[in-house]
Amino acid sequence: MLKVGRGASAPPFLVMDVIAAANARQAALPHGAPHVIRMEVGQPGTGAPQGALDAVAAALRSGDPLGYTEALGRPALRARIAAHIRDWYGVEVPIGRIAVTVGASGGFPLAFLAAFDPGDRVAMAAPFYPPYVNILTALGITPVILEAGPDTRFQPSVAALERLDPRPDGLIVASPNNPAGTMLHPDELAAIAAWCDANGVRLISDEIYHGLTYDSPMATAAAFSPNAVVVNSFSKYFSMTGWRIGWLVLPEDLVRPVECLAQNLFISAPYVSQVAAEAAFDCHPELQANVARYRRARDHLLAALPGAGFPHLSPAEGAFYLYADIGDRSNDSVAFCARMLAEAGIAATPGVDFDRTRGNRFVRFSYCGPEADMQAAAERLRHWR
Ligand SMILES: Cc1ncc(COP(=O)(O)O)c(C=O)c1O
Repeated sequence: MLKVGRGASAPPFLVMDVIAAANARQAALPHGAPHVIRMEVGQPGTGAPQGALDAVAAALRSGDPLGYTEALGRPALRARIAAHIRDWYGVEVPIGRIAVTVGASGGFPLAFLAAFDPGDRVAMAAPFYPPYVNILTALGITPVILEAGPDTRFQPSVAALERLDPRPDGLIVASPNNPAGTMLHPDELAAIAAWCDANGVRLISDEIYHGLTYDSPMATAAAFSPNAVVVNSFSKYFSMTGWRIGWLVLPEDLVRPVECLAQNLFISAPYVSQVAAEAAFDCHPELQANVARYRRARDHLLAALPGAGFPHLSPAEGAFYLYADIGDRSNDSVAFCARMLAEAGIAATPGVDFDRTRGNRFVRFSYCGPEADMQAAAERLRHWR
């Protein structure tokens, strides 16, 4: 028998199965029956902002061959990203430290391969975005899981890191995170970045949900450490999931390794997506209207879900997720979500995707769907319980 590599054992992303089940349920509904409310999806229902579409239309008409770009991205886009970092955080990052990637997803293997070796150990808090573990494992890097709970808003802390023996080689943080929508506040992120530097730990900061924050201030790891890798994307705030475009802010020592890896693995991110991304920086009013919609849905759900049988909710400081502890109703979140879909017509994601030991008693609700659905969801759930 021929050998199949370690990468083949990467587990599926369970939410995809939930999406398929919700699609099947919707298709089977009799005409006129209330539709399935989709709270399992982690992507904006909106498309790319109009300015991005216009820029792409012009590029398509221009006769430009739209070929490969430099591996680190079009210089004009890298300059816009640097300007964006200056505008949002007041931090100066030289253009040379910015790499345009195929979404945040394309940034992870570049960052992990450049920063770590097989056998290294990389820590993260649970619950976490499943691909972190799955990509690390496929690369022969060992994930080290720190169980985090409501006391630290499901985020890692310096105290938890101090308990790690031996010290890990890397740490992944995400703020706001997926699935809990909670944040590391600027002082907490600064303390973690300082701890990483003091202990020779490479910090990888996933900032993909920046811009989708409601009350708490956001900070970039680039402000606190020149050694941190920042991962970001146009998928969430910029509402451009299908364009597959993101960026990394790299420490000086990883720029050339990432450039060489990108040349070999991807050549470049798609040209048209880079054009769209550059124009998206001029579309803040449209994008802020999306944020305002998420905020209304969040405020409504935070107020209404406790009375609908979900009193234990994460604080929902950002992104578009609520992480609900359903431990007093079920110890099997997969079965719970299946029943909620079948009986209430609401699709949500079982926590087992995000936390392999405690996810059986958590459910992730996403509130980026149509506003009317988000308003109707709590009412349906109130009748269901
Ligand atoms: C925390 C987190 N990081 C990264 C990604 C990947 O995003 P992209 O579309 O930029 O590849 C996602 C997607 O849902 C996410 O939730």
